[in-house]
Amino acid sequence: MATLKALIPCLALLLFVSMISFSEAREFEVGGKKPSWELPSSPDAFNKWAQRNRFQIGDTVVLTYDAKSDSVLEVTEKNYQTCNVSNPIRSYTDGNTKITLDRSGPFFFVSGAEDHCQKGQKLEILVLSAKHRSLGHSPAPSPSETHHHHHHHHAPAPAPSNAGSGLRVGLMSGAAVVAVLALV
Ligand SMILES: *[C@@H]1O[C@H](CO)[C@@H](O)[C@H](O)[C@H]1NC(C)=O
Repeated sequence: MATLKALIPCLALLLFVSMISFSEAREFEVGGKKPSWELPSSPDAFNKWAQRNRFQIGDTVVLTYDAKSDSVLEVTEKNYQTCNVSNPIRSYTDGNTKITLDRSGPFFFVSGAEDHCQKGQKLEILVLSAKHRSLGHSPAPSPSETHHHHHHHHAPAPAPSNAGSGLRVGLMSGAAVVAVLALV
């Protein structure tokens, strides 16, 4: 009986760890600062930031800006390339826009303010497919792979090892809980 009692904290810990691992969705402040959505200091600043991050389904990006003078427009890839804001897929005007990345693949955002897109206030976010989450120790992509050509959408860079291992740890501790419970 003593051993059973001693197991309880371990079980609780395992359960806790597996819960953390499964609720991995994160929130990203675009550009890593506030206000985040404004004319960038260099034209590709937003995409440089985006390329340093690995976005997964369920993650949220946060864009803060002055709602009186700016907005966020989700557009098609074509309209993103040409900064055509006339027919956005979605527009956000609340000044503190949270967008949940609910599917894999690329998302394209541009500023709705006059000329801001042309000056580089545009952002492409590539969300890794669910398949990539379960891949473990793939090497980080080489710089040439992270380039902003649209071809790379068809061959997204592999997930970093920590994303996959986080999930694996979750699965393994979940399995451990089940195994221990079965023994008890
Ligand atoms: C902008 O996009 C809209 C619809 O997506 C299209 O009708 C229009 O011709 C485009 N304008 C330019 C300048 O390409």
